[in-house]
Amino acid sequence: MTRINQRWLLDKRPEGMPEDNCWKWEEVDVPELKNGEILIKSLYLSIDPYMRGRMNDAVSYTGPVQIGDVMVGESVGIVVESKSDNFKSGDYVCVHGGWQSYIAVRGDGPELFQADPDIVPLSTYLGTVGMPGRTAYFGLTRLGKPKEGETVVVSAASGAVGTVVGQVAKILGCRAVGVAGGEAKCSYVTDELGLDACVDYKAGNLEEDLNNACPNGIDVYFENVGGEVTRAVAKLLNPGSRVPICGFISKYNSRDIMNEETPFDVFGAMKPVPEHRFFVVTEWFDDWANATKELSGWIKEGKIKYRETVTVGLENAPQALRDVLTGKNFGKQLVKVADE
Ligand SMILES: NC(=O)c1ccc[n+]([C@@H]2O[C@H](COP(=O)([O-])OP(=O)(O)OC[C@H]3O[C@@H](n4cnc5c(N)ncnc54)[C@H](OP(=O)(O)O)[C@@H]3O)[C@@H](O)[C@H]2O)c1
Repeated sequence: MTRINQRWLLDKRPEGMPEDNCWKWEEVDVPELKNGEILIKSLYLSIDPYMRGRMNDAVSYTGPVQIGDVMVGESVGIVVESKSDNFKSGDYVCVHGGWQSYIAVRGDGPELFQADPDIVPLSTYLGTVGMPGRTAYFGLTRLGKPKEGETVVVSAASGAVGTVVGQVAKILGCRAVGVAGGEAKCSYVTDELGLDACVDYKAGNLEEDLNNACPNGIDVYFENVGGEVTRAVAKLLNPGSRVPICGFISKYNSRDIMNEETPFDVFGAMKPVPEHRFFVVTEWFDDWANATKELSGWIKEGKIKYRETVTVGLENAPQALRDVLTGKNFGKQLVKVADE
């Protein structure tokens, strides 16, 4: 049977917001599988902020996507053909195969993860129990090191990473305060996720609202956004505070990112300098399975809730990325590539 693979290739490096002409749509035959390989039909594609950085011609913690290459991304899908002893047809698996509908990979790849829809829905393996959830879990517990009674602030609090950070902080007995854009997101963070407060950074009163939400100052700031939120948080950090720097999305579309103010500029200029460092979730790769297990357990116990925005159709992936970069997403942004 000839299968057609639909895929998005990077065609042009963006300046500012990535427009449609940055990608090229292509339909090609799926090649014959080689021994040791599996063929995965993608069901959901994860859309993540880091994708914007990978479109630039710059090396960060990993290299750029090359022009003409399939756009980078993680999917969860079903094995439809196997020439590997590790997987059989019908298995569900998470794979870093990019923006395409069929993915052929070796069945012994280190980043292939089996997904079990009896534990949590498949899409959750790209969100709360997947890369964003693990990012939140390790960044908060290993670098934030929150103690009971301390105040933890997280920005992009209604998003894929932020929702997990805030709720884990509550599980650990902290006062958890979110920062998010708009009333709907802030009410969700307090009323549904159970954080103690959420500050709407778009309401025009950021410093005062944050001050009111954090009467005992801030002990841990989980950094996701940079910019004015970072500067407002810095004023309230307590001595001995910790700042895991996960990302700074407010600058990702900058046309001159090398000259933008970063969280390192803000925290590094403080006296005393708070404990702060950038991290990548892969630092704790050996412990990923444990984090996934613990996060799944909390979901089952109702201690962690989450929300997803599902854009239907791989052809709409570029718009889904723009939605993440402008805050139109609410919770984890996914693209539904095919029916389960
Ligand atoms: N270091 C790592 O290993 C790692 C791994 C995963 C993610 N990350 C980082 O974690 C952060 C959150 O990622 P995510 O996947 O959870 O995304 P997300 O929070 O689900 O979506 C991104 C959110 O960022 C906010 N945002 C967008 N543009 C903004 C702007 N100009 N200023 C302020 N906020 C803006 C929006 O929320 P509002 O509407 O509330 O503004 C948007 O919903 C990102 O910085 C990402 O790069 C890092």
